[in-house]
Amino acid sequence: MNAASQNKTVYQDFYGRDFLVTPDVLIPRPETEQLIDAVLNLAGKPYLPGVKPSRNVLPEHPKILDVGTGSGCIAVTLAKLLPNARVYASDVSKPALKVAKKNAETYGTPISFIISHLLEKVKFTPDLIVANLPYVDKDWGWLDRESLSSEPALALYADDHGLALIKQLIVQSSTRKVPRLILEADPCQHQTIIDFAESNNYQLNETRGFILNFTYCYNPQASH
Ligand SMILES: C[S@@+](CC[C@H](N)C(=O)[O-])C[C@H]1O[C@@H](n2cnc3c(N)ncnc32)[C@H](O)[C@@H]1O
Repeated sequence: MNAASQNKTVYQDFYGRDFLVTPDVLIPRPETEQLIDAVLNLAGKPYLPGVKPSRNVLPEHPKILDVGTGSGCIAVTLAKLLPNARVYASDVSKPALKVAKKNAETYGTPISFIISHLLEKVKFTPDLIVANLPYVDKDWGWLDRESLSSEPALALYADDHGLALIKQLIVQSSTRKVPRLILEADPCQHQTIIDFAESNNYQLNETRGFILNFTYCYNPQASH
């Protein structure tokens, strides 16, 4: 049992900032930090010493939506690093959104919070969606169930070999023609996600670690 599950106040470092973590949220993971690098690269901002970023491909004031925000670590980090962006954060879990709001207050980041199953209650079209949704398949033989038991199952597991929510988000994003989508998943799931995304009008730009970066490209032959 870790400190978060014993109701102590626990903080976890993410991209150089400490985030409040409670038993209602996933503990931010180091592999998710590469999602921030991917967004900074899209925005033409330096993210690693010695690595030249691409040219900015985002609008001047991009609307960025973090779906499944949990502790808010992604949304808050992006709001701090991209002050021109309008950052939104959604989650299906009310208790998780409470934690995310506290973290946003701590860092003084003006984030709009939305309680929603994926994009159901989202009333606008973001320029970029970022999402670290649950992608763990309960049947993976290598799972350390003991160490995951202190985190909410809602934050970890998904049906369809861990891909149910990611696939739904891809379909919803494609229906709304969201220009860019950055997702986290286990590398063993990447090829399935790439194939599914391609058949829903999303072309892969790059993978980095656990992160997949897609651009919407309308393809009339793609099947939904
Ligand atoms: C893997 S955690 C990621 C948390 C945080 N973004 C991070 O990277 O540390 C997934 C989050 O997705 C949320 N979630 C689960 N099902 C969802 C759904 N159908 N719609 C929106 N959010 C959902 C969970 O409550 C959880 O906070």
